[in-house]
Amino acid sequence: MWINNNKENNKVKAKGKIEKNSEKREEKREGKREEGVSKGKIKIAIVGVGNCASALVQGISYYTKNKNATGLIHGEIKGWRPEHIEVVAAFDIDKRKVGKPLREAIFQKPNCTIIFDREIVNGDVEVMMGPILDGVAPHMRNYPEDRTFVPADEKPVDVARVLKETGAEILVNFLPVGSEEAARFYANACLESGVAFINCMPVFIVSDERWSERFRTAGIPAIGDDIKSQLGATILHRAVANLFRMRGVIMEKSYQLNFGGNTDFLNMLDHSRLKTKKISKTEAVTSILNYEIPPDKIHIGPSDYVQFLNDTKICYIRVEGVAFGGAKIEIDAKLKVEDSPNSAAVVMDAIRFAKVALEEGIAGPIYTVSAFTMKHPPKQMVDEQVYEEIEKFLRGEGKLW
Ligand SMILES: NC(=O)c1ccc[n+]([C@@H]2O[C@H](COP(=O)([O-])OP(=O)(O)OC[C@H]3O[C@@H](n4cnc5c(N)ncnc54)[C@H](O)[C@@H]3O)[C@@H](O)[C@H]2O)c1
Repeated sequence: MWINNNKENNKVKAKGKIEKNSEKREEKREGKREEGVSKGKIKIAIVGVGNCASALVQGISYYTKNKNATGLIHGEIKGWRPEHIEVVAAFDIDKRKVGKPLREAIFQKPNCTIIFDREIVNGDVEVMMGPILDGVAPHMRNYPEDRTFVPADEKPVDVARVLKETGAEILVNFLPVGSEEAARFYANACLESGVAFINCMPVFIVSDERWSERFRTAGIPAIGDDIKSQLGATILHRAVANLFRMRGVIMEKSYQLNFGGNTDFLNMLDHSRLKTKKISKTEAVTSILNYEIPPDKIHIGPSDYVQFLNDTKICYIRVEGVAFGGAKIEIDAKLKVEDSPNSAAVVMDAIRFAKVALEEGIAGPIYTVSAFTMKHPPKQMVDEQVYEEIEKFLRGEGKLW
């Protein structure tokens, strides 16, 4: 009765509170963004000018023009804002991208992500030819040019030399899944040129102790592996798994089926390239639990290519569990997202944390940032806990590690 009688009143109060809170949040973001001292630039290089790179480059331009931080995880990271990021080098192998200024290359086929900023500011850098190595899977040649990679017939540049000459500080790796050799080639180029490495794809480098030791010895920070999108299948599935763990419900079986129509999904039709992607996605969920789920009771991975979806990704998650007295619980969830902006939001944070690590002289894997931003970090942490660690650091109460 009390609740009913006061429902309208409560609604108004609640609305007022929500509005005030969101105003406060907005002011905080805006204020923070205006207070920030001008700090110079964060010079990055990109390898793989595909859909994720397109969303990232559009995002840098968009948030440079729009001072409101809506959609960003952090408006500012220790004074660094999106407009401080400058792309000084970009590498690809596709004949429609190589030789073009980045501002044009990101809109070339087969890229198909949404366009939210067509007029890119500061996108003059020319895309250079990188070595192809294992970047293009054989099956990719069987699809129409508009949908697949079309390798250019050009001599690759000396990547390490370009990184040094352009003054790049951080390299962001957006190579296709399964490009083991190519990913290692770019990681080595970073070691050779003293450039920090952000590995957005599932070749295990930062989470491999031998590689991370090489970065540590070289005095270079590294963040990886395999981007955990802003609000994607992984973080949603982890949140459900965490709920099961906290409430004492046993997760007995689970699947996560993903499909979409971009080149990432087309490339992943070759299952021989998927081994590390499946490990990365599965461990991201099972690492939350304090018991093992038998391999035949869990199925997580990219599932199919549906051309007309373009960069829209659909994900179905099902979790079956056992609760009090053996009672059964089932959860079915559907997620529909734009795949590439979802990853770019997180990369935007990773780049600025890498810059802070460079400023602070941190070498080797940055554990907290990798756990916050990546599916397969060197140390897995519960998302809420790592979020608190990151926020503490941003408030000046902790160290970056
Ligand atoms: N939400 C997401 O989109 C998301 C999340 C996590 C991880 N990832 C990973 O990020 C990576 C990039 O994703 P994407 O959607 O941008 O892929 P994409 O297929 O759109 O782009 C890949 C680009 O790499 C280029 N390329 C191929 N071989 C190359 C080589 N040897 N050297 C330089 N460039 C080469 C291609 O021409 C293409 O431009 C993938 O590995 C993907 O799995 C994406």
